[in-house]
Amino acid sequence: MINKKSKIYVAGHKGLVGSAILRKLKHKGYKKIFTIDRKKLDLTNQSKVLSFIKKKKPDFIFLAAAKVGGIFSNQKYKAEFIYSNLAIQLNVINAAYLCGIKNLIFLGSSCVYPRNCKQPIKESYLLNGKLEKTNDAYAIAKIAGIKMCESYNEQYKTNYKCLMPTNTFGPNDNYDDLNSHFFPALIKKIHTLKDTKNTKLKLWGDGSAKREVIFVDDIADACLYFMNKKTKENLINIGTGKDFSIKDYAHFILKIIIPNKKIKIIFDKSKPNGTPRKVMDIKLAKKYGWKPAGILNDSILETYKSFLKENNDTKKYKRK
Ligand SMILES: NC(=O)c1ccc[n+]([C@@H]2O[C@H](COP(=O)([O-])OP(=O)(O)OC[C@H]3O[C@@H](n4cnc5c(N)ncnc54)[C@H](OP(=O)(O)O)[C@@H]3O)[C@@H](O)[C@H]2O)c1
Repeated sequence: MINKKSKIYVAGHKGLVGSAILRKLKHKGYKKIFTIDRKKLDLTNQSKVLSFIKKKKPDFIFLAAAKVGGIFSNQKYKAEFIYSNLAIQLNVINAAYLCGIKNLIFLGSSCVYPRNCKQPIKESYLLNGKLEKTNDAYAIAKIAGIKMCESYNEQYKTNYKCLMPTNTFGPNDNYDDLNSHFFPALIKKIHTLKDTKNTKLKLWGDGSAKREVIFVDDIADACLYFMNKKTKENLINIGTGKDFSIKDYAHFILKIIIPNKKIKIIFDKSKPNGTPRKVMDIKLAKKYGWKPAGILNDSILETYKSFLKENNDTKKYKRK
C-alpha cells in the first residue's frame, strides 16, 4: 500500500495522464513524489534509466511515459511508435525489477484489442484476432508491455499491473493538428470556429464510428486505486462502459463551446474512420470496487477551460 512515506516515481509527468496522476498524488498529500524531465532523462536510454532508478529507488512507479498520438501519426510514424514504446517499457519495467521495485502501474490502451472483437471488449479478448491496421505498431508495443508485466509477475513475483484506458481527455492534452486524438482535435476544431464567420465543421470519416471517452481524473483515480488493490488479474480495463458516435461528441462539444451558433458538420469520407466501435467492458474493475465519476459535460467544460489557459486564451472563455 502507498503511504505518506512511500517514494513514488511518475514517468511522463508532463503528459495528459502523468500530470493527472501527479495532481492526484499531491492532492492526496503524498510528499515523496519525484519526476524527471525528458530533456534530462530520455527513457529510451537503457543505461541512464537503470542508473536513475537505482539512484532514486522508488517504492512505486506509475509508467505514463509513452509515444502517443492519433490516427495520422500512428499511421505515418509506425517505426517511431513501435521503437519508442518498446524501449521505454523495456527500460523502465526491467530497471524496476533489477532494483527490487515490486509495484508498478503500466498504462496501455484499448487499441491493444482486436479490430473486430465483440463489444463491449473484455480483457480476455486480448490476442483473439487481427489488430486495427492504422495503429498496429503502437498496439503491438503495448501488448509486449502487458506480456512483459505478466511474465515478470509470474517469474519474479512482482506486482506490475496493466491498466487499459479507453480514449482519455482532460487538462494537458495534446492539441497538435497532426498528432492529437479525436477528442482533443474536436475541441480545438470547434474552438477555432468560435470567433469566425465559418459555420462548417469538417471531420474525418463519416462520423459513425463509436467511441468511449473518459476524463483523465478518472484514469488517475484508477491508477492509485489499483496500485493499492490486490488483484488476481494483471490486465484491467478502465473506461466508462458507454460509447457515443463521433457525430454525437461533435454535438456535445458544440453545445458547450458555441451553443448559440448554427454549425453544419461536413464529413470527409475519404479519410479513415478507424475501428468501427470501441467500448470497454469494465466489469472486472467494478468487481474490485472501482468505478468512474464519468460526468461528461462538466469534464468537457473543465477540459475546455484548461485548453484556453494552455493556449493563453482565457479572455475568450465565458461560462455559458
Ligand atoms: N491519451 C489517451 O487517450 C490515452 C488513452 C489510453 C491510454 N493512454 C495511455 O496513457 C499513457 C500516457 O498517455 P498520455 O495521453 O498522457 O500521453 P502524452 O500526453 O503524450 O504524455 C506522454 C508523456 O511521456 C513522455 N515521454 C514520451 N517519450 C519519452 C521519452 N523518450 N523519454 C521520457 N519521457 C517521454 C512525454 O514527455 P514530454 O512531455 O516531455 O514529451 C510526456 O510527458 C500512454 O501509455 C498511453 O498509451 C492514453
